[in-house]
Amino acid sequence: MTVLVVGASGFLGAEVCRQAAAAGRRVVGTYHSGAVAVPGVESHRLDVTDRAAVRALVARVRPAVVVGTPYRYADWAVTADGAAHVAYAAAEAGARLVHLSSDALHAGRPEPYGDDEPPSPIFPYGAAKAAAETAVRAIDPTAVLVRTSLILGEGSKQIQLCRDAIAGRAVLFTDELRCPIDVADLAAAVLELAGTDHAGVLNVAGPDAVSRADLGLLVARREGLDPAGMKTGTGAEAGVVRPTDVRLDSTRAAGLLRTRLRGVGEFLAA
Ligand SMILES: NC(=O)c1ccc[n+]([C@@H]2O[C@H](COP(=O)([O-])OP(=O)(O)OC[C@H]3O[C@@H](n4cnc5c(N)ncnc54)[C@H](OP(=O)(O)O)[C@@H]3O)[C@@H](O)[C@H]2O)c1
Repeated sequence: MTVLVVGASGFLGAEVCRQAAAAGRRVVGTYHSGAVAVPGVESHRLDVTDRAAVRALVARVRPAVVVGTPYRYADWAVTADGAAHVAYAAAEAGARLVHLSSDALHAGRPEPYGDDEPPSPIFPYGAAKAAAETAVRAIDPTAVLVRTSLILGEGSKQIQLCRDAIAGRAVLFTDELRCPIDVADLAAAVLELAGTDHAGVLNVAGPDAVSRADLGLLVARREGLDPAGMKTGTGAEAGVVRPTDVRLDSTRAAGLLRTRLRGVGEFLAA
């Protein structure tokens, strides 16, 4: 069985490739400006904004499963249009699609968000992820759309931000709450979902909600760093327009999956 990972040069995409290859699958991965650094993965350059190129690659690879991860933070054409192109090509090839979505499409509020809640974006990245979901669902109602939160692990941008704040070079917000997930747990969940017929949106995040500042303290403890100089503040003070309190309720995924979705307190202590 062939798994095509679109965005295999990315943080999550690379881990999905590693796990799929370790499970003995044929894995084909795409990159855009980076490179696919996973042994045993056949790689191709692909620009997902080029609809014809996406269709041609998927038709050539003939995958059973397509995992769609690409995004660029401030680029609608990649994040929204690109997701639609991947969904169209996967449907045309009859492949099972796992599309990666984000908690950033919610506005933020004190109560956790369930799986079926419609997007309420308040900034361009959230809006692009919301548009991507709408396109993917319209093109392929059988696809599974994985809404996730901060993805952590060695090499993650989020952990690096914590290290920078501990060194006084960046600021961690106390008013921005998320439900982080370990990249290995998320990749395993993605591959497990590829083997099911679960359709529609599914929250797949960790059970613990923490602020970015709390996350900084957990990283400091894990790495034996002194957090005394860690810079913290609020997004509101910094004038950042981004959802603050976004907790995903992943109870449904936890019941559906064999993969255990560990909380950040557990996996950063491991
Ligand atoms: N990281 C998080 O904390 C987080 C949180 C919630 C949701 N998510 C979602 O999870 C998914 C994966 O995130 P990630 O952190 O693994 O992302 P990432 O490391 O930034 O990787 C992004 C991928 O998109 C590819 N890409 C960018 N522009 C492209 C284009 N024009 N054509 C084709 N590919 C293109 C990149 O390729 P090159 O590098 O080769 O250019 C890379 O492989 C995303 O859909 C994101 O929205 C992430």
